[in-house]
Amino acid sequence: MVRKILFCIFSFVVLNVNAQNAKMKTFIDVLMKKMTLEEKIGQLNLLTPGGGIVTGAVVSKDVETKISNGQVGGLFGVIGESKIRQAQELAVTTSRLKIPLMFGSDVIHGYKTTFPIPLGLSCSWDMQMIERSARIAATEATADGLNWAFSPMVDIARDPRWGRIAEGGGEDPYLGSQIAKAMITGYQNGDLSKDNTLMACVKHFALYGAAEGGRDYNTVDMSRVRMYNEYLPPYKAAVDAGTGSVMSSFNVIDGIPATGNKWLLTDLLRKEWGFKGMVVSDYTSVNEMIDHGMGDLQQVSALALNAGLDMDMVGEGFLTTLKKSLQEGKVKLKQIDDACKRILEAKYKLGLFDDPYRYCNAERALKEILSSDKKVAAKEFATNSFVLLKNSKNVLPLKKSTNIALIGPLANDKSNMLGTWAVSGNSDFAIPVLEGLKNATGGGINILYAKGANISDDTSIAKKVNVFGTRIDIDKRNPQEMIDEATSIAERSDVVVVVVGEASEMSGESASRSLLQIPLSQQNLIKELKKIGKPLVLVIMTGRPLTLGMENEIADAILLTWHAGHEAGNAIADVLFGDFNPSGKLTTSFPKNAGQVPIYYNHLNTGRPNAGDEFQKFRSNYLDVENSPLFPFGYGLSYTTFNYSDLKLSANKLKPNETLMASVTVTNTGHVSGKETVQLYIRDLVGSIARPVKELKGFQKIDLQAGESKTVSFAITTNDLKFYNNNLKYDWEAGEFEIMIGTDSKNINKGKVQWIK
Ligand code: BGC
Repeated sequence: MVRKILFCIFSFVVLNVNAQNAKMKTFIDVLMKKMTLEEKIGQLNLLTPGGGIVTGAVVSKDVETKISNGQVGGLFGVIGESKIRQAQELAVTTSRLKIPLMFGSDVIHGYKTTFPIPLGLSCSWDMQMIERSARIAATEATADGLNWAFSPMVDIARDPRWGRIAEGGGEDPYLGSQIAKAMITGYQNGDLSKDNTLMACVKHFALYGAAEGGRDYNTVDMSRVRMYNEYLPPYKAAVDAGTGSVMSSFNVIDGIPATGNKWLLTDLLRKEWGFKGMVVSDYTSVNEMIDHGMGDLQQVSALALNAGLDMDMVGEGFLTTLKKSLQEGKVKLKQIDDACKRILEAKYKLGLFDDPYRYCNAERALKEILSSDKKVAAKEFATNSFVLLKNSKNVLPLKKSTNIALIGPLANDKSNMLGTWAVSGNSDFAIPVLEGLKNATGGGINILYAKGANISDDTSIAKKVNVFGTRIDIDKRNPQEMIDEATSIAERSDVVVVVVGEASEMSGESASRSLLQIPLSQQNLIKELKKIGKPLVLVIMTGRPLTLGMENEIADAILLTWHAGHEAGNAIADVLFGDFNPSGKLTTSFPKNAGQVPIYYNHLNTGRPNAGDEFQKFRSNYLDVENSPLFPFGYGLSYTTFNYSDLKLSANKLKPNETLMASVTVTNTGHVSGKETVQLYIRDLVGSIARPVKELKGFQKIDLQAGESKTVSFAITTNDLKFYNNNLKYDWEAGEFEIMIGTDSKNINKGKVQWIK
């Protein structure tokens, strides 16, 4: 009976979807019959009139005229409900066919209310929370007229020299896939036609995070086996979760730029993965194929269209050359029609043909933007993204009666709190740490503040970082004067809290670094403060993993906060005072030095693995540094401690259709309640291709009261053992597997099982 009812519901849903699709198809067919070739090509054109962040050399010109001429399919970088309404009005009143525009933006980590950078959010390992962050961002952004987010960025990144590591979910394909799904669900909420959902755009397809040398936009070259197993899964997860759009990346893949790569955009994305939505280029990435050496503007535009690209961002290569290419037989009308159809379908699904002003509602804007509930969420997300890296002798949490010396260039700074890619966020509303500490204590304790150092003393670095406004503010005083002021307040306090790290624009796009340390000016400050002999707490703000060897040696406690968004100061205060027990875990390895990168936990074993960190001649290692990172993937402390015991495997030999239950008992052995992310890793000991030393296959975040124990179980099937073999066949192979459960990728309890075919 139940099965019958379910079948009926299923059939009804399928019929309904089919009916809706048929209706959409008819609508678009009728519309396209009315369109001239020029109007079709016009739909493929995405422009920015400027005003947002301009990431290329070009800003679109004569945008209004082009809209009226039917030469524009969408705009981005237009911020504000009334401006969007104006542009839409132009499209639907002055263009011949009155086709509405779509409006995109880089809604990356929140919209006007800014949340922690994505790398920070990923450290929560809390998929519901991450989904909620996208849902809230969508609610706020759609209230301001937007209907398309250029997010999530799901590029796997294992090289912290690459500044855009900040924008993604770290180094792991399994975790990255979960995050991709959560973000797409959050933005789109299963129904694009609602006025509070955004169409997602997963980016940057593909492999952008593997740029050689960590230098942005640089060459990528990688085997198919690595691609399929390690880099492609999050994009695929986003497609499976129904992302409405995909953005092609800047880099080459197998020698052909992604934007003109037919294998990537058609064979893989559409044919293999069944993607039905639209593909947009990255900012002028069509034109950039000229510099890649793929031909002139006409050639590269034809290459992109033939590869399967639908929309050209900013470069206007489609707009200016496709007609000629059609006349010369270099592209087919069908390609232009297909691309146009996919863009019109997106607009249809967004409900723009029903009501072009669906997302323009001044009342909603007033109610939703920067509303108090969003601030509450911003603080919650921030506290959950922090990672406690060190806490010797339980220096943290601080008592609210402590006299605090709060020092550092990021301690009373608003401009760097939001982090990279916060295009719509206003840092004037950010809460710096000093204010956060005062809010938390009601002014009841003694907080002495000194800047202590510049973020960097290097004026040339400051100039490069300050492109969007002052982020590195070089003080008029000389460094010694600043240090003297800082040490003098440190001497008068019980504890020294130093807020140091990177300016927000030291990570993000076009912000690669060859060295990964905290700038020298701040390192000097830390060393001088150590000499005072008071407990030393470091709060580190950054957009990337840093090399923190010296800091880890001399500080008593280190709290990593990334760039935490609008509520940074309040969230940091909550954690420093123990009102919130930190539970974040790293999603990217922290190297000991920059020479170790790329560094990631799920590497292959090599034929000459080094056992442990001791140097062994003729083994794979370095003379001057160990192989292990300073802080491994999955690592993060709490104000309590957790003990793992009693690893149990339900069987030691399994048949293909059998499920292995792997469980472990976790006990909170400390004095306060806390959250712990229990991580499951598997190693395939023998395979037809070399397999990683371990791979994350599951995780559960649990809450434990002091003294409480819980058994955490994972159900493992052969699906969890699958990988792409040398023929790119996705399957599992019989043999022995190590099952590992632990608190991070290094500290694990191990067992072994055999799966037979
Ligand atoms: C970035 C994209 C972004 C686009 C539009 C590009 O430079 O690579 O991530 O979505 O600009 O702002």
